[in-house]
Amino acid sequence: MEILVVGTGAREHALVRALSQDPAVTAVHAAPGNPGIGALATLHPLDPLDGAAVADLAVRLGVGLVVVGPEAPLVAGVADAVRAAGIPVFGPSAQAARLEGSKAFAKEVMAAADVPTARALVAEDLPALAAALDRLGAPYVVKDDGLAAGKGVVVTSDRDAALAHGEACLTTGGGRVVVEEYLDGPEISLFVLSDGTDVVPLVPAQDFKRAHDRDEGPNTGGMGAYSPLPWAPTTLVDDVLREVARPTVAEMARRGTPFVGVLYCGLALTWRGLQVVEFNARFGDPETQVVLARLATPLAGVLLAAATGGLGALPPLEWRDEAAVTVVVAAHGYPGTVRSGDPVTGLDEAEQVPGVHVLHAGTATDGGRLVASGGRVLSVVATGGTLTEARAAAYAGVERVHLPGSHHRGDIALTAAASEDDDR
Ligand code: AMP
Ligand code: GLY
Repeated sequence: MEILVVGTGAREHALVRALSQDPAVTAVHAAPGNPGIGALATLHPLDPLDGAAVADLAVRLGVGLVVVGPEAPLVAGVADAVRAAGIPVFGPSAQAARLEGSKAFAKEVMAAADVPTARALVAEDLPALAAALDRLGAPYVVKDDGLAAGKGVVVTSDRDAALAHGEACLTTGGGRVVVEEYLDGPEISLFVLSDGTDVVPLVPAQDFKRAHDRDEGPNTGGMGAYSPLPWAPTTLVDDVLREVARPTVAEMARRGTPFVGVLYCGLALTWRGLQVVEFNARFGDPETQVVLARLATPLAGVLLAAATGGLGALPPLEWRDEAAVTVVVAAHGYPGTVRSGDPVTGLDEAEQVPGVHVLHAGTATDGGRLVASGGRVLSVVATGGTLTEARAAAYAGVERVHLPGSHHRGDIALTAAASEDDDR
């Protein structure tokens, strides 16, 4: 089978890498992909938001499966266009992708399905915004209703800053802002595959959303991740399936908009139990980099089963008994205004560290040289027998990569690795 992957990031590079290692896959194509993906797949330049172009390409290539990576094409209906062309597609319809595309819609579905989540108020003007802030109190959580590439949320105890962000969402965003109760507790990402009816969980991971060490600085798309989570309750996955994923998938089916693809459950473990922080309608980036590094089952058959209603008949997934850590190398200025064009070197040297592979995100080639072309430039991924070993290898890899002005967090998986050491 040949497969087409849509997207440009390190998540898509991780997907392409896993798919190209599947013996059932004869060729991988990517649209538009990036220079790292180009080493494993044939690249096809096109606008990933253009559903007709993606569907035409899939038909022309005769692929057996299309995998849509990022949220924007899903919300724009790219999966619908591919499905209409008769090709199996891993990714929800535009209607189902509203679970990510509108935070207000996600809240409505969670309420209908009795899924535990933060109390929320939706405001469409300034007086309603101010009233919502005062009703729920500090710390304030203010979210743009629509897609914002991981930067639409501000969590602050400063009422003026909360008001200013809310006002910006009202004027430049979609005109709606969601104010939420603050959820206090560690966050977990669990990806749950769905074929519209049945669900299959992957393994939990933890993402580091803030730009700087000790969770300081602004929110980003994610600066690093690790899996497994030695500190998480052993019932976590079952709890999420029972309390969150199955009721949500059932509610989407009941509404006539079945969810096919991956339901990204962003969760907080609070004193009141599990609470949903957010749903996404796609794989998380950078969590996918560590989750797929641990998956032993060939990926293509799993995604095809989800795309074609076959998850109920899928044998249980197999996982490597290894830990994985990824560290994101970000360009100068990220998550603010980023500087592009700086040379990126040392990737081969990084990959000589045992257990390390480097995935591209914001890279481009310029006259034969690899240069930075986006905020998150690379994901350096490492596996090892323990989190401590995987972490040491990932940072040894990062040290060998050179990108002028770049920054990365130094504390990815640090606390978890320490807790693992305590256990021994
Ligand atoms: P979201 O875009 O909804 O995923 O939010 C991005 C990040 O903001 C989350 O990963 C959390 O770190 C933080 N966040 C979002 N909602 C809440 C909440 N209700 N309470 C505390 N932190 C939150
Ligand atoms: N890692 C966060 C996200 O993919 O949204």
